[in-house]
Amino acid sequence: MESTIDIARLVVNGDRLEVGIPTHYTLLEALRYVLRLTGSKQGCDKGDCGACTVLVDGVPTLSCIMPVWEALGKRVVTVEGLATAEGPHPLQDEFDLNGAAQCGFCTPGILCSAVALLHENPAPSRDEIREALSGNLCRCTGYAKIYDAVEAAGARIREGRGGINPEGHDRTPRRHARTRRSPDDQGTR
Ligand code: FES
Ligand code: FES
Repeated sequence: MESTIDIARLVVNGDRLEVGIPTHYTLLEALRYVLRLTGSKQGCDKGDCGACTVLVDGVPTLSCIMPVWEALGKRVVTVEGLATAEGPHPLQDEFDLNGAAQCGFCTPGILCSAVALLHENPAPSRDEIREALSGNLCRCTGYAKIYDAVEAAGARIREGRGGINPEGHDRTPRRHARTRRSPDDQGTR
């Protein structure tokens, strides 16, 4: 059966986009299969694992259970939007330095949750970090190195060394190509 496609206006990683999206798509499907932003992962696809976490108006959001239409008029930031022209986000640097990513499948979602935490509170306690990341499952690391990386990134941000507004920045408006693509056309990574 043919999908209905509507033109949606989205703000993703600071880009103002006009794009054709099947009306039944979730935000995650729109990001991955229309905009080709595959950093946000499709794990459980039912709101359990946190791999699809993105920031919507600065709030960590499970994009696999959010209809794309709910994101219209809001600012969406994905893992692809965390780095700036000056370099990686301090969290990305510290994940690297602390060995906080192993297979990396959980990492984009955890980074988005942690960006929001450090924006609110750049000096979180270990318990506050654990609580903020409690919706993001990691099968590889045992979490300790992830928490270390978040603490270290908080220290950098407190020193004024990097960080973004999790609500994103405006960049030059551009029109995105109207695209139809099925989730079956791509892998999950
Ligand atoms: S893919 Fe969204 S919560 Fe698992
Ligand atoms: S690094 Fe593999 S699931 Fe977290």
